[in-house]
Amino acid sequence: MNFIVAVSKDFAIGYKNRLLFDLPSDLVYFKNQTMGKVVIMGERTYLSLPKKPLPGRINVVLSDNPLFQAEGAIVVHSLDELFKKLDNYQTEDIFVCGGASIYNLLMDYCDKAYITFVNATKPADTFIKDITKMPNWKIINESQTFQENGYGFKFVIFKNESVKEYKK
Ligand SMILES: NC(=O)c1ccc[n+]([C@@H]2O[C@H](COP(=O)([O-])OP(=O)(O)OC[C@H]3O[C@@H](n4cnc5c(N)ncnc54)[C@H](OP(=O)(O)O)[C@@H]3O)[C@@H](O)[C@H]2O)c1
Repeated sequence: MNFIVAVSKDFAIGYKNRLLFDLPSDLVYFKNQTMGKVVIMGERTYLSLPKKPLPGRINVVLSDNPLFQAEGAIVVHSLDELFKKLDNYQTEDIFVCGGASIYNLLMDYCDKAYITFVNATKPADTFIKDITKMPNWKIINESQTFQENGYGFKFVIFKNESVKEYKK
């Protein structure tokens, strides 16, 4: 399993249930990495999508609300139920796509992290853990710095050297 996220300098990822930065190239990167794959997200992130479900991908939505329905997506209500569903897919084809509650819940089960580092800070209300401070996460690929809409950003891939098992 992998996770993919765009973070500010202080590991913020969202404000008022929206993304922090308008970076079309990052959306293209996200699409290229996840197309044809399984994308896992929390209810709030799913509801924030301009187009639901994300086309061309198997959408899995985690929600605490037993009545929540999402047309065209698989809805699960617990980690156990999620892991049972994920048994049907190759772990390298699974991408955790947010938000913070879902990243923080599933990060330890991920083999790789695809992180877009934006060299800026913004008012935010949603943060993830700083994996650069976790010794088990090692950088395996780092792009040059790109510029778009006044922001500098780079794409970095990390590998987890101590992945938690989720398959039974
Ligand atoms: N920068 C990025 O790359 C990126 C990517 C995605 C999202 N985001 C941003 O992240 C923000 C949303 O993040 P968020 O943390 O507020 O929401 P979220 O993770 O998208 O969704 C939270 C939902 O998941 C449910 N949930 C969490 N753990 C669960 C579990 N173990 N079992 C069942 N349900 C569970 C929660 O239920 P309860 O609350 O009832 O427990 C809640 O309904 C937005 O601002 C969005 O734009 C940023």
